[in-house]
Amino acid sequence: MSIHIRRPVISLVAALTAAASLAACGGNDDSNDGGSGSAKVTAACKLDNPPKSGAAAPTDLDLGKASGKVGVILPDTTSSTRYELYDKPLLAKALKDAGVQADIQNAQGSVQKFASIAQNMIGDGVDVLIIDSIDAASGASVEKQAAAAGIKVIDYDRVNLGGSAPYYVSFDNEDVGKLQAQTMLDCLEQQDVSNPKVIIMNGGTDVDNNAVLFSKGAHTVLDPLKKDGKVDVVGEQTVLGWKNENAPQPFAQTLTSADGVVEGVVAANDGIANAIIGGPLTDNGLAGHVVITGQDASVEGLQNVITGKQSMTIFKDVKLEAQAAAQLAIALIQGKDPASVGLTLSDFSDPKDPNHKIQALLLPAQVITQANVKDVVDAGALTQEELCKGIEDACAELGLS
Ligand code: BGC
Repeated sequence: MSIHIRRPVISLVAALTAAASLAACGGNDDSNDGGSGSAKVTAACKLDNPPKSGAAAPTDLDLGKASGKVGVILPDTTSSTRYELYDKPLLAKALKDAGVQADIQNAQGSVQKFASIAQNMIGDGVDVLIIDSIDAASGASVEKQAAAAGIKVIDYDRVNLGGSAPYYVSFDNEDVGKLQAQTMLDCLEQQDVSNPKVIIMNGGTDVDNNAVLFSKGAHTVLDPLKKDGKVDVVGEQTVLGWKNENAPQPFAQTLTSADGVVEGVVAANDGIANAIIGGPLTDNGLAGHVVITGQDASVEGLQNVITGKQSMTIFKDVKLEAQAAAQLAIALIQGKDPASVGLTLSDFSDPKDPNHKIQALLLPAQVITQANVKDVVDAGALTQEELCKGIEDACAELGLS
């Protein structure tokens, strides 16, 4: 997996443009003239050549139709808006297109509810269960019950380590973390910020292996630079359970211990970024003056990018993820080996259990900055109206109107 790491040294024209835009943006937040080192940074970032994912693009397969029943369980509606905005409708469409009957439910963050939905679906005789679990232990327990009833399980987006599902469909999550950290550095470099002070806000590493992988990817980029004294990681925190409301307090604490100076924040997703922007960054006059990452291309995240409060988001085209899961489900219903019908799966190791063999399909993700917000619209994820509702002027300034 290769990520394009370094940008050529910033040109004089680019430096002058950056300086001009800094001057222009400097007035955005009048409360920030307290001499903080962050006053010179602007969150707005227009990378015309952002880092790219190393994961392979998916192949367009048409596996025809299958008859059968598929149950889908999504984890919650609050750690990210993606589940209601993207996963639910796109899975419904992909499964309908596949000809199967779909029952898609959301566990609303409750492991008890997750288990009871699963029991009902198993009792209802679904052929395949597609699960995006709240945590690995409860996911693994559903997998066991499904296996006992002869039902195949696909781990969707989040893998259940220590579980038994043989299939996993997701994005290249380690790559996502690399893209977040690298884009943060590139946005800072574009503004000539050297030796940036950085805070890492991890997602729910206590519940979700994806959060662990995002963090691992970010560290792969940042650790060597930290060692060479080129990046100063002033703190790292976990947003327990991916709950957005758990983000502001540990961030504020870290900011205080760093004397109120931060130039870059690796925030694991848009919800966390938004909680930090609207909370401690605003409280400290730093909103719009810190390069801050995100993930999920949520409406709120994209709007924060457009209005210059958030520097980037990661667009994971859930349509592709839903289609891949639906294709895999069809193959399993038809009793076919997924590889034999053209689904390219690779081995994914389970560090909790070397005997747990997992075949994974990992999709590429894309970096979105102010320079390419339109890509999300072009991919059909959102309409321009949805994206620009309430921020029409900011959209027009970016040519989105
Ligand atoms: C997903 C992210 C999401 C996060 C919080 C992760 O497993 O991959 O897209 O933002 O969970 O729900």
